[in-house]
Amino acid sequence: MSEPSAPVFPKDFVWGVSSTAYQLEGAVSEDGRGESIWDRFCATPGKVRNGESGAVACDFYHRCGEDVALVSELGVGSFRFSVSWPRIVPAGRGAVNAKGFGFYDRLVDALLEAGIKPLIALYHWDLPQTLEDEGGWTNRATVDAFAEYSRVVGEHFGDRVPLWVTQVEPWVTAWLGYGLGVHAPGRCSEADAVAASHHLLLSHGRAVEVLRGVAPGAEVGIALNLDHFWAATDRKEDHEALRWWDGTRSRWYLGPLFRGEYPADVLDEWEHLMPAVHDGDLACIATPTDFLGVNYYSGSAIGAGEDGRARGVPQPGVARTDMGWEVHPDGLRQVLVRASRDYGPKAVYVTENGAAFPDVVDHESRVLDPERQHYLEAHIAAAARAAQEGVTLKGYFVWGLMDNFEWSWGYWKRFGLVHVDYPTQKRVPKASFGWYRDFIAAQRRPGR
Ligand code: FCB
Repeated sequence: MSEPSAPVFPKDFVWGVSSTAYQLEGAVSEDGRGESIWDRFCATPGKVRNGESGAVACDFYHRCGEDVALVSELGVGSFRFSVSWPRIVPAGRGAVNAKGFGFYDRLVDALLEAGIKPLIALYHWDLPQTLEDEGGWTNRATVDAFAEYSRVVGEHFGDRVPLWVTQVEPWVTAWLGYGLGVHAPGRCSEADAVAASHHLLLSHGRAVEVLRGVAPGAEVGIALNLDHFWAATDRKEDHEALRWWDGTRSRWYLGPLFRGEYPADVLDEWEHLMPAVHDGDLACIATPTDFLGVNYYSGSAIGAGEDGRARGVPQPGVARTDMGWEVHPDGLRQVLVRASRDYGPKAVYVTENGAAFPDVVDHESRVLDPERQHYLEAHIAAAARAAQEGVTLKGYFVWGLMDNFEWSWGYWKRFGLVHVDYPTQKRVPKASFGWYRDFIAAQRRPGR
């Protein structure tokens, strides 16, 4: 049997790779950066594996020159990074930090010089601690602070940065951060999670309005975590569990963003948890965007437990990554097709996709990671099928550029195309780096 031929994407398709501030930068107390909720969370005993933190991380703050060289060697068209709010506005609102801008200026200029389009994510989870002290995302005033922060970043970079993401995975911020306590700020309250979700969505709408004014030529969107879910069996209870799971994780975000309304079935259950929703909030959340960003990693069967609550039902015989996440490449196609068909975004980017494996540097200084290559190949092929089925797919970003601080998992889980030896900060491109580089080059080849 011959190998299936590699999928073919349009010439202007954006191949990219992703990173974030807190996971890579380090330098948390340097050059006037303020404290973030992740600094505080990591310093709280028992929150992060081995008491680790992003204090040094990949030292990207000092090494971004050599790291941009790696990005350039990879040959991607775009590099996604997040701006650290407390580096730019250390107290959350008010005075801005020129040195913080200086770092991102160097990064943006190095990328542009290398012919790589910067994609800025405004919020990837490192809220200034001062704002958390006033209630964080459960406090509506944080939305105003975010709009102000978006304006200063947009004014500064709007003429150089063509791609913007406002919020990344608001479900994760709301539920892992405020509902389940496994991410910063570590709160465990359903009401806080629901309040945070509304304010995060509203902050997105406000940021879109702001960016339209200060960066009129830019493409602006939001990135949602949209994994693929299906009912574990045909039992009615399992279908109901699936409806709730999908409703609270996916439709709760897609509904207001693209239809200006929360899904009625979930709202009925959560009415008593809702924060004040003002006139105009939903219209603001639904401000038209240029794209929907989809972060896709896995899929799971959903069923009702003995207690009637929805839960994931592990599937035997399915490959898993080092996170324990099941590998379901076709789920990416299904998520992309569903989001496009049901919600009609103008365009879609896969803003994150990738896998953790327990990579090691071998005696020849290589990191051989065929599982990651297979994962990426299969997901890219699924993305191609979605495009063939009519999804306006404009780009695909691998998560992530290099191994980094994987939130509450610490440095244990390795998602990078580049291996990082943390004690020495030595970077070793993995075999999957070479594969992705060659794949992108082949996509660009004339007459392909
Ligand atoms: C996503 C996050 C990203 C990274 C990957 C593995 O949910 O957005 O920062 O941690 O998971």
